[in-house]
Amino acid sequence: MNKKLLFENLEEIDDFAAEFVQNITTSTAIFLIGEMGAGKTTFAAALARALGIKERVVSPTFIIGHEYTSGRIPLLHIDAYKIITMSTSTEAFLDELEALDIETALKQGVVIFEWCEEIADLLAPKRVEIHIEVNKISRIRTVEVRYCA
Ligand SMILES: Nc1ncnc2c1ncn2[C@@H]1O[C@H](COP(=O)(O)OP(=O)(O)O)[C@@H](O)[C@H]1O
Ligand SMILES: [Mg+2]
Repeated sequence: MNKKLLFENLEEIDDFAAEFVQNITTSTAIFLIGEMGAGKTTFAAALARALGIKERVVSPTFIIGHEYTSGRIPLLHIDAYKIITMSTSTEAFLDELEALDIETALKQGVVIFEWCEEIADLLAPKRVEIHIEVNKISRIRTVEVRYCA
């Protein structure tokens, strides 16, 4: 079920997202994993478009979570970059996330996590991990999808 794909441009991401969301139901946790600039937010935006969400997905500057309800199923997009740069411990990290009520969001829809892989087991033992790596020279992206149970 796990797979590895190569992406050379943004259109290919949209094509992948369209196919990927076909099998998505509520209670899906998706972790986007990769360094700064890998294309995590771009990927989140493509998944949102594929779910029929009208609003544009952006990286929140101050808020760490944004809920989108205009699509086929509700989507909560969490970008924890601000937290991990400020939090000193796992507990502090979890405290910051608590306000977002991830459990309810997961029950009702899809939650996309960016910069949360360090506490992935605590947040969602059952999850889909999408690992994105970008080749510095060719700019080609390698995307690996892993289903964790
Ligand atoms: N598949 C892709 N092909 C071409 N450019 C991409 C692709 N994915 C992302 N980018 C570009 O890379 C930059 C960083 O993407 P972003 O999604 O913000 O990264 P991250 O959220 O991982 O830090 C953006 O300018 C985006 O347009
Ligand atoms: Mg981002």
